Amino acid sequence: MAGVTLDKVVKAYNQTVTVHGIDLEIAEGEFIVLVGPSGCGKSTTLRMIAGLETVTGGEIRIDGKRVNDLQPGERDIAMVFQNYALYPHLSVAENIVFGLKLRKVPKSDIAERLKRTAEVLGLDELLDRKPRQLSGGQRQRVAMGRALIRNPSVFLFDEPLSNLDAKLRVQMRTEIKALHARIPTTTVYVTHDQVEAMTLADRVVVMNKGAIEQIAPPEELYLKPATRFVAGFIGSPGMNFFPSSIEDSGEALSLRLSDGQSLVVPAHRVDLFRKLAGKPALLGIRPEHFALDQGPVAIDITAGLVEPLGMETLVHFDLGNDPTVARLLPQSSIRSGAKLRLSVDMNRVHLLDPETDLVLV
Ligand SMILES: Nc1ncnc2c1ncn2[C@@H]1O[C@H](COP(=O)(O)OP(=O)(O)O)[C@@H](O)[C@H]1O
Ligand SMILES: [Mg+2]
Repeated sequence: MAGVTLDKVVKAYNQTVTVHGIDLEIAEGEFIVLVGPSGCGKSTTLRMIAGLETVTGGEIRIDGKRVNDLQPGERDIAMVFQNYALYPHLSVAENIVFGLKLRKVPKSDIAERLKRTAEVLGLDELLDRKPRQLSGGQRQRVAMGRALIRNPSVFLFDEPLSNLDAKLRVQMRTEIKALHARIPTTTVYVTHDQVEAMTLADRVVVMNKGAIEQIAPPEELYLKPATRFVAGFIGSPGMNFFPSSIEDSGEALSLRLSDGQSLVVPAHRVDLFRKLAGKPALLGIRPEHFALDQGPVAIDITAGLVEPLGMETLVHFDLGNDPTVARLLPQSSIRSGAKLRLSVDMNRVHLLDPETDLVLV
């Protein structure tokens, strides 16, 4: 095992910079997930760690050693891709040991490692099959076996589950997490799926436009997002934002919304919010912090699109001009057009700086 360090790492293709000097310190045995929208530079970053892309600036260290100029084969890493081309004419066993044979690992050693890898991945019964005789999930497991058997210092995954259907993706996600618990190899895992990121990671790295927005454990990312981008990206659906102003009547502090309604700040948060009084602010409310019950602070809305999902009901509405979504307990009675009074959990709302997009509270 080894830690991985990215020190002001830059990637430019011709004159276009796609990774803007990122810093990341990955501890030995840690499971790190890079998450962000398509095109934000996740794969480029991973491929630089792997040695499949050159590094334009900065330094990458594995186990404290600079690897910028090392070939992929010299880095003691193993990578699993979304398109894990298995050799169709080779059996599962032959596919898994292919790399070891190339490296001229002794036969008895190969047999022993194959046995262990197949056990860990539940492939023991399938070793003689050809890839076409496997399900999608089994094929993905073979691709992981190919990486696992090499016992690398660092695992790199690039959207390994994107080709699988939703149910299988959840199952494989659980398997990858269980595997890391048993064999805690340092892992860098790339996905655009925030749920995958949150469930797998020790720490999540949220990327946007080639830069890191925030690095934090999953719970912290949800509870204390650093920027508007992170607040909107993490959570499903993400946070709603409203232009608002803080009004201090002397007796009470409240947040006035663009449609004229206002929300009273609870006593224990008044000091925190008062510092921002008189300035424009962006109010952030997560969909799950609206509720149909009659809490002390509430707004009146007209339901737009209603999406009953069984375990919850999403209700879309406009607050002023801002499209908003509330995530409510399932209520079969809510219809589009209904007038609703939604309480807001004022202990959980955030305030952002509309100019810098930083979360202030
Ligand atoms: N070989 C390349 N030449 C030029 N631009 C590239 C190349 N590979 C990737 N890019 C650009 O770099 C950016 C980041 O791409 P990528 O790392 O693949 O994003 P992600 O994996 O987050 O979807 C994109 O804008 C992409 O178009
Ligand atoms: Mg990618």
